[in-house]
Amino acid sequence: MDMNTEKLNKILAVFQGERGGLISILQRVQEEFGYLPEPALSLIADFLHLPQSQVFSVATFYDNFYLTRRGDHLISVCQGTACHVLGARDILETAENCLEIKTGQTTPDYKYSLERVACLGSCALAPVVLVDNEVHSKMTPRKVKQLLTEDIDDRKIQA
Ligand code: FES
Repeated sequence: MDMNTEKLNKILAVFQGERGGLISILQRVQEEFGYLPEPALSLIADFLHLPQSQVFSVATFYDNFYLTRRGDHLISVCQGTACHVLGARDILETAENCLEIKTGQTTPDYKYSLERVACLGSCALAPVVLVDNEVHSKMTPRKVKQLLTEDIDDRKIQA
């Protein structure tokens, strides 16, 4: 998805006249585009009369802001202690091999992004993998392989 300047201007128009709206604007722009395209950051800086460096440093400071396009589906592999002792490292490695990317990267078709996360608060279900907002419990490398090699868009959402 390329940045659409018209869409961005519409978002900025909503914030016209508001002071100190940088974080809110960044959140809204990311909601729209899925990430913060670099040209958008420059236009936001102009709009707020802020130095570009300030807008970039805020955008890079928060983990929840992404400066590169993300995949349609986010695979989060828990690396917290409970998951770690039950083989989370192998699970992450298997996910990397299946998707042919490294942790933190996105597949070239923008279908998947892979990330490691700290404890997801479901330690009793360890090791845990999150696919978008769907929890997959007691994962094994075999189960991860199965999960990531089937077509995710055809997959029925598990309860
Ligand atoms: S350590 Fe993975 S869910 Fe708690």
